[in-house]
Amino acid sequence: MRTMRFVIGAAVAPWLCAGGLVAAQSTATAVVTIHADQTASRVSPTLYGLMTEEINHSYDGGLYAELISNPTVRADWSGVNDWILVEDGNSEAKIGKDSASGPSAALNWSLRVDVSHASAAGAAGVLNGGYWGIPLHPNTTYDGSFYAREDSADVGPVTVSLVANQSGKVLASAVVSGIGTKWQQYRYKLKTGMMEPSKENHLVLTVAHPGSLWLQLVSLFPPTYDDTPNGNRIDLMEKLAAMHPEFLRFPGGNFLEGDHLADWYNWKKTIGPRVDRPGHPSPWRYWSTDGLGLLEFLEWCEDLHMQPVLAVYAGYSLAGEHVNPGPDLDPYVQSALDEIEYVTGSTDTKWGAERAKDGHAKPFPLTYVEIGNEDWFDRSGSYDQRYAQFYQAIKAKYPDLQLIATAPVKGVKPDVLDEHYYLRATDFFHDATHYDKTDRNGPKIFVGEWATREGTPTPNMGAALGDAAWMTGLERNSDIVVMASYAPLLVNISPGAMQWDTDLIGYDALRSYGSPSYYAQVMFGSHIGDTQPVSSLEGGGPRFFYSVTESTAKKQIYLKLVNATSDAQAVDIKLPGAALAPEGQQISLTGHDPEATNTIDDPDAIVPVETVLHGVAETMHHRVPPYTIEVLVLHTR
Ligand code: AHR
Repeated sequence: MRTMRFVIGAAVAPWLCAGGLVAAQSTATAVVTIHADQTASRVSPTLYGLMTEEINHSYDGGLYAELISNPTVRADWSGVNDWILVEDGNSEAKIGKDSASGPSAALNWSLRVDVSHASAAGAAGVLNGGYWGIPLHPNTTYDGSFYAREDSADVGPVTVSLVANQSGKVLASAVVSGIGTKWQQYRYKLKTGMMEPSKENHLVLTVAHPGSLWLQLVSLFPPTYDDTPNGNRIDLMEKLAAMHPEFLRFPGGNFLEGDHLADWYNWKKTIGPRVDRPGHPSPWRYWSTDGLGLLEFLEWCEDLHMQPVLAVYAGYSLAGEHVNPGPDLDPYVQSALDEIEYVTGSTDTKWGAERAKDGHAKPFPLTYVEIGNEDWFDRSGSYDQRYAQFYQAIKAKYPDLQLIATAPVKGVKPDVLDEHYYLRATDFFHDATHYDKTDRNGPKIFVGEWATREGTPTPNMGAALGDAAWMTGLERNSDIVVMASYAPLLVNISPGAMQWDTDLIGYDALRSYGSPSYYAQVMFGSHIGDTQPVSSLEGGGPRFFYSVTESTAKKQIYLKLVNATSDAQAVDIKLPGAALAPEGQQISLTGHDPEATNTIDDPDAIVPVETVLHGVAETMHHRVPPYTIEVLVLHTR
């Protein structure tokens, strides 16, 4: 676990000047006073977003909807991983990696299937069980493709089938004919009939004649979010959309850096047709196919109306290796400039034209570029100069871009500083005032990774309370904290898939669920507004937190209350002089115990419950139950 704390300068948050906060010190009735007609500060319009990288099978075996595991047929000492020989009846065949033949320079190897004996009654070939199963739904069409070639002997058409693991029942099947002797891509469709949704299935490719068949990039996609080709899993995208994220920080995290210099996220190898993407090792100990590459990250932003926060590799990798600032670093700086051009350039620029060729003529919006990741790990002290070299080159060409530093630097003043916090709930309770005294004249703050790490594989109610307490502090200080993103976002909970426990959203091949922390994010992200009225808290217990924001457009006040104790908390809410509708909404997330949680089999144990809030008035008495996070929506007139 990486924990980082900065204490930066000393100044006073505007809400403190304006309203004056008295720390909660007892379990006596708390008094929250809101001066709805007085603005303390603005709320950052980009406060809540997503941080993501290839970890815990977030993309391959996660959000990226590809169903075939190891589609690029990589092999190790044990053979071609995830691919199993099929010998039906008395057929005979063998399989192995062919390092001398492949469909492209990037994928210049393949899976070779040598069939010595096969017939219609006893076909031979290979099967793939997907990422911990192949999820299938009734009456659904799946789009498949593969690259193949045959030897001169005619091994006949390839039959592709989806088969139920336990019964062996064929659930869908297609025949791909005309396989030639040269590498070519073939497409197929598989349609299921009536069936129970299940992930206990596999894909089989067989031939009915002796001969040799080579396969590469075997692919199968279910329907995707927005029907995007090479797109994302619908259930996970819907869960992310419900968070109302304003930005997506990508591609990492450690995934940006790689273990060694050679493993850096070289975005140019993640664009274009998949057959031209070699993939690369993830520092999280598995291969990334990069099927979800740079353009797919950007399309993901587009789909969920998020702005990209583009992290560019800055010449430091996790094993402690760095590129010397100066001429050695120049190629990486140029790569970052090219990458920015790929994202934002018009089609008459070199990389803008490349993006158009890849299918997206329209440039993407870009405001923030992050230089590296967690560069305080670089003990050589080179980050100051590396940052300055990127800063000068990027600002010279793109003066409006906001450049994020990942560690404090002295050479140039960064626009934004990225800080990371992985803490226990108790730490966040104590640190909820962390940014109250941050220097307002320093860089803006991006809390690019943070999480209460309690609960596995996903956080429990206690963690959600820690998160919510911390978020009240982020909101209160969102004049300086311009962005914040929980991390990690996603985890495949299947055995062996997870590298980092305590992740926001869990899933297997078929199902997904939100943790209590996820629902806290949904509640906060959906009720944020644009300004912060002057407010104060008096009394209340030591683990009672609040924040209040307002949407001027919607004429709504959002009061967030967090009671992280086992006792109910009484609160008097005062809105002197406010003209209020008598009814509002109350959204509550409650657990009976900090250990209470959601699981894949019990996904709705702790979910937000919305009720009508009656009796809204200038003064109202309210009670927050134990272990509860609430949003009160009050309507002004
Ligand atoms: O979120 C998991 C990891 O934590 C990130 O990859 C890294 O930036 C941080 O140390």
